Amino acid sequence: MMERRNHQIILERRPTGRLGEEHFRAVEGTIGEPGPGEVLTRTILLSVDPANRGWMQGRTYREQQGEGVVMSGFTLSEVIAERDTAIPIGTLVACDGGWQEYAVLPADSVRPIQKRGPLTHHLSVLGITGLTAYFGLLEIGRPVPGDTVLVSAAAGATGNVVGQLATLAGARAVGITGSDRKAKFLVEQLGFGAALNYRSASFIDDLRAGCPDGVDVYFDNVAGTILDAALKGMNIGGRVVCCGAVSTYDTAERSSGPRGVPGLLALKRLRMEGFIVLDYVDRFAEAEARLAEWVASGDLQVVEEVWEGLDAAPAALVGLLAGDNLGKRLVRVSGYNV
Ligand SMILES: NC(=O)c1ccc[n+]([C@@H]2O[C@H](COP(=O)([O-])OP(=O)(O)OC[C@H]3O[C@@H](n4cnc5c(N)ncnc54)[C@H](OP(=O)(O)O)[C@@H]3O)[C@@H](O)[C@H]2O)c1
Repeated sequence: MMERRNHQIILERRPTGRLGEEHFRAVEGTIGEPGPGEVLTRTILLSVDPANRGWMQGRTYREQQGEGVVMSGFTLSEVIAERDTAIPIGTLVACDGGWQEYAVLPADSVRPIQKRGPLTHHLSVLGITGLTAYFGLLEIGRPVPGDTVLVSAAAGATGNVVGQLATLAGARAVGITGSDRKAKFLVEQLGFGAALNYRSASFIDDLRAGCPDGVDVYFDNVAGTILDAALKGMNIGGRVVCCGAVSTYDTAERSSGPRGVPGLLALKRLRMEGFIVLDYVDRFAEAEARLAEWVASGDLQVVEEVWEGLDAAPAALVGLLAGDNLGKRLVRVSGYNV
């Protein structure tokens, strides 16, 4: 049986406070051939997600990230061997490849993709975060022309797409982000109607001024005090899309619920609804096609950054949690000839 060298990054120990690069360790492992019903994949691109940190905290929609084992992560990979599966060698797949060069995975756990444009798009605008923006905004937020759509972590992977889709739906997008530089980018480059820096001392006043007609849809990526502030600005009949809670991931402190709930929900007849994008997996192809059309027409700009080499992954994740990314952050693990 052939074994190949497999460079991997393991989570040495789970953090009790903030995540640091010291929580990870690079190791040289080996990997064998796939068993019946399995594929052997080569990782091309790794998605760096705040959820990677969330998985360390406990059971979520998946098992808690273990210690001393390969760090989990979504990847874009190429099938390089298979046994008794219907997936041809050479197929590009979106999968749970983890922070490693190669993975053996059950064939039914990988999702073949139809290549559209640059490969990076399949982990950004056409990948999990683009799909999250699409389904969260259009199915749960349901903006109509003239609405004000407020989104947090707006310069990140999901948030920037939410804002651009809101604009395409005829709404006014307002972004909340962590720096003036990012706020300027959202308005000047992506066409947001306004963007606010939550670190500014005048944030609450800025929020009011940025949403003079109130908020019809709040797409919440962060929870915490920003959710509190957004709830106060909601219009009657507004929709709050609970997508994620990034302000609570990289800390040992227990998160408290938003203030004013359920009072504000009743008073303002709000609908507050959470979702996990994987619930929509049967509709991913339809959404990918629509997103790809908007990208091709220039209506949807792709904001992404690629770090080079698997060993960059720990720093890439630590930095992402501190907000040093603009758009979707990826790590290139190996090349792909197209
Ligand atoms: N429901 C689902 O199925 C689903 C799927 C994918 C992602 N998500 C969620 O979507 C959210 C965004 O994920 P993403 O992958 O698109 O990441 P991202 O926005 O590209 O990166 C995370 C961003 O969060 C911001 N942030 C970090 N700490 C913060 C804090 N304490 N308060 C406010 N903002 C903070 C940072 O930007 P700033 O400079 O603005 O601080 C950072 O850029 C996350 O909550 C994630 O869990 C949900």
